[in-house]
Amino acid sequence: MPVNTRQIGPCFAAEVDGLDLTKPLSEDESAAIHAGMDRYAVLVFHDQPLTDQQQLAFTQSLGEIEHAIGTSLRAPDEYRLPTTFADVSNLDKDNRVYARDDRRRLFAIGNRLWHSDSSFKVVPAKYSLLHARSIPSRGGNTEFADMRAAYDALDAETKAEIEELICEHSQIFSRQQLGFFDFTDEERERFKPVRQRLVRTHPVTGRKSLYLASHAGGIVGWPVPEARAFLRDLIEHATQRQFVYAHMWRVGDLVMWDNRQTMHRARPFPAHEPRDVRRTTLVGDGPTVAQAV
Ligand SMILES: [Fe+2]
Repeated sequence: MPVNTRQIGPCFAAEVDGLDLTKPLSEDESAAIHAGMDRYAVLVFHDQPLTDQQQLAFTQSLGEIEHAIGTSLRAPDEYRLPTTFADVSNLDKDNRVYARDDRRRLFAIGNRLWHSDSSFKVVPAKYSLLHARSIPSRGGNTEFADMRAAYDALDAETKAEIEELICEHSQIFSRQQLGFFDFTDEERERFKPVRQRLVRTHPVTGRKSLYLASHAGGIVGWPVPEARAFLRDLIEHATQRQFVYAHMWRVGDLVMWDNRQTMHRARPFPAHEPRDVRRTTLVGDGPTVAQAV
């Protein structure tokens, strides 16, 4: 069956028809998906009733899995899903909705700030694949912003200024913006900052993009307040509505995005309602900048 892509919203998101993701992909289908990701950066697949096994198999047919170990405040014995999944639901391991003041929930509210997945890891994520198993009665959209278009829209002076800049990313920086300072010594050690280039070049298309995230809390060689004000301005620029696609979830949707070329954020929803969305992630090709590990 041919794979069809149809642009939705701004020019970087498309719906994909003609694929049943519960079945193994042919080589042509896999190539069509990669080509679609290079062109658009966000692909939407509707009506995909995937099991965990099927989501994992689909993801692995596109590349190498990134494991989610130690990236949230769930203790090792509190995981609801295997570490081949990033559990971005609001559910504990017995599928109960977190209490409103549960610190694991409050930490996860950091996902409502614009970010790129795993930019706080030395080797950051390539694609994320998020599948909706259950959704709240209202809210809970995911918004995406095109960091290529945002880069293109900068003036030449700014492009020259940022070309070689290196940022420091940590989940501590994003959470601090929301007033979450409640980290243990072990967590502070685990969430130590890593370095990322501010401008990335796509390995296939050669297009440049801004590599931003609310996890970025500093620029190497810059005073902190100046760096944070500068990064805030860049994020404000990059998330103007003309660069944004808002995805309204349906159960069975799988949305795949390229973290190298986009940022995203979750939108609020009623705190007492379950939102079971499961993310698999492909690891990137390598660090964006050489650094001590
Ligand atoms: Fe995310």
